[in-house]
Amino acid sequence: MTSSAAKTVYTTATTLDGFIATDDHDLGWLLSRRLDEDSPWSHDRFMAGVGAIVMGRSTFDWVERHRAESGDAWFYTQPSWVMTHRELEVPEGGDVRVASGDVAAVHAEMVEAAGGRDVWVVGGGGLAAAFAAAGLLDEVVLSIAPVTIGSGMPLLDGKVELELLDSGVNGEFLCARYQVLPAST
Ligand SMILES: NC(=O)c1ccc[n+]([C@@H]2O[C@H](COP(=O)([O-])OP(=O)(O)OC[C@H]3O[C@@H](n4cnc5c(N)ncnc54)[C@H](OP(=O)(O)O)[C@@H]3O)[C@@H](O)[C@H]2O)c1
Repeated sequence: MTSSAAKTVYTTATTLDGFIATDDHDLGWLLSRRLDEDSPWSHDRFMAGVGAIVMGRSTFDWVERHRAESGDAWFYTQPSWVMTHRELEVPEGGDVRVASGDVAAVHAEMVEAAGGRDVWVVGGGGLAAAFAAAGLLDEVVLSIAPVTIGSGMPLLDGKVELELLDSGVNGEFLCARYQVLPAST
């Protein structure tokens, strides 16, 4: 686990039935919904405390498709790691690093780069579960959309035991912060 000052946090939006994207990686169920930018659960507020980011390849590909459609620059100012087994074209204008395999080695680099700020595990659910299984995930923070989609990409791909720390509301979303309990419990 990281120190009490800096946490490793999997923050994501999810459907009520535990999916973070449809089977074809669509996020329409999420992006169409109302958020309150002044909520204590707002994404901007969370991002202000983040010093390093890690995401899986599908999530990176979604970001790149979204950027291609919108013409946006790379979203993140923080050093960002993409976990993949495949070649990847690193976007211009961002600090994007490519990694593969053991999440513990990547985590150590991220904590170093984060300089005392939090590490954000963006997703997907397999990567977040790998951090949890390695004992490297401190918290899971969910924004739960009022929708079920029946199937899709899992929120957490594996058994992860959690303890509720806090809850609230952000626009249409029910929000919850959980502590990750040790894998053996
Ligand atoms: N609702 C939200 O707020 C939210 C948040 C995050 C993501 N999303 C969406 O959810 C979906 C997640 O997709 P996903 O379930 O496929 O998860 P993902 O983690 O984005 O991508 C999985 C892929 O990442 C690579 N990977 C993961 N761990 C690795 C490791 N340790 N070493 C090497 N490569 C590794 C592998 O790709 P290769 O082997 O093919 O390289 C793996 O197939 C995406 O559509 C994303 O846009 C939604």
